[in-house]
Amino acid sequence: VLGTTGFVVVNRPSADGLLRSARPLPEPFTVPLPIPAAARPVRVEGDTDFYALTQRVADVEILPGVRTQVWGYDGSFPGPTFHLRQGRRAVVEVRNSLPVPTSMHLHGGVMPPDSDGYPTDLVKPSGAKQYTYPMRQRAATLWYHDHRMDYTAPQVWRGLAGMCLVSDAEEENLPLPKEQYDVPLLLCDRAFDEDGSFLYPSLESGPGVQPGYDNGVLGDVILVNGAPWPVMDVDATRYRLRLVNGSNARRYELALEPGGQLTQIGSDVGLLDRPRTHESLIITPGERFDVVVDFSQYPVGSEITLTNRLDGPVMRFRVVRRGPSSDPLPERLASWEKLMPESAVETRTFDFRATPHHGMRMWTINGEPFNPDTSLASPRLGTVERWRLSSDFHHPVHLHLAHFQVLARNGRAPEERDAGWKDTVDVRPYEVVEVLARFEGYRGRYMMHCHNLEHEDMAMMANFDIS
Ligand code: C2O
Ligand code: CU
Repeated sequence: VLGTTGFVVVNRPSADGLLRSARPLPEPFTVPLPIPAAARPVRVEGDTDFYALTQRVADVEILPGVRTQVWGYDGSFPGPTFHLRQGRRAVVEVRNSLPVPTSMHLHGGVMPPDSDGYPTDLVKPSGAKQYTYPMRQRAATLWYHDHRMDYTAPQVWRGLAGMCLVSDAEEENLPLPKEQYDVPLLLCDRAFDEDGSFLYPSLESGPGVQPGYDNGVLGDVILVNGAPWPVMDVDATRYRLRLVNGSNARRYELALEPGGQLTQIGSDVGLLDRPRTHESLIITPGERFDVVVDFSQYPVGSEITLTNRLDGPVMRFRVVRRGPSSDPLPERLASWEKLMPESAVETRTFDFRATPHHGMRMWTINGEPFNPDTSLASPRLGTVERWRLSSDFHHPVHLHLAHFQVLARNGRAPEERDAGWKDTVDVRPYEVVEVLARFEGYRGRYMMHCHNLEHEDMAMMANFDIS
């Protein structure tokens, strides 16, 4: 049966949200890590680069020797990686050759509201839209994905996601690993049917998921850049790994086995002020961590597994040869202003929780399911506000446009992983996370939502209007 999402409806209620594949899966660490192709401008005019992107159906090989149909940007999954530069505007013409409407959101991007990929700002089948990204923002690891109202989760699951790396002069002047030593890694999970197609527990009747998946859908196959538990051959030198959690609902606590440090240099939307080392890093859906791993600390021949301590292996690195010796990491990275609570002109509270609504349990913000016509806040352009985000479950909270700094968790100092400028924050069950958000760039309607994509589709979103 084809549901409205075009997925074969799998009638598999779940107790834990885990969707299990119906076919044999490959041995981990046998498929080489793919690097998505770079998007190339089709035209360059003055300070503007023009790109063209087509959303289309394609058959790709994800499991070795097996074809999987995806909905991909330019037919690939992940889509091409954009390399944008501060000060150069990017205009992306998106054509929709899919059988469903779409809306493309550049996550972490600062752009006018009509290019934000608002959930009802749809590109119809056979239609097209120009998205304009002024790129007045700092170097950062961004990503882009579909944002169609009620259907973001199944459409991203089908493949509508890709990465976008923004550079600037400050970053370029730092001695950080570059080129083949700068590796974007998009993490997500999927499940496969017998014939190799993606499984997804759609409802037949409309948006939403089958019973047991309302905390989100998890797959039993971990993909990195679209490959199952891949392996990458590395030189014994420093690598910059851009970790992007593009999963619908899966959280990861990433660590290296048999041991080693993840040195964080960047958060969601930019470089940190100084590097911070972590034994492990929790990364929730939508979040990014820019880390450096020094493979010269391992003898040539070593195998190092990037693992999810909450679940199992993610991918493996094989140190295959000596590498160029690289400069030590600088002690200072980027300079930016640390926001102070006194700078907040307003304090607001947003409570993320499940509430009954017309007899149905819905995921809401301040008791309200998403309504595209209303707004929960009207911050003024150019101001900083203190937002208290509270929750009944794991909700990775994402703000469009506004970047923020984490001020406190349950009244205490934030964690090391909360450092820097962010656009998505891990709010855990019964936690209150306070952030200082700066509303900068453009006036108009933007939104915040839970980045557990099933929660997002089940209405855990709200508008705010910048005036
Ligand atoms: Cu990455 Cu509104 O989403
Ligand atoms: Cu949520």
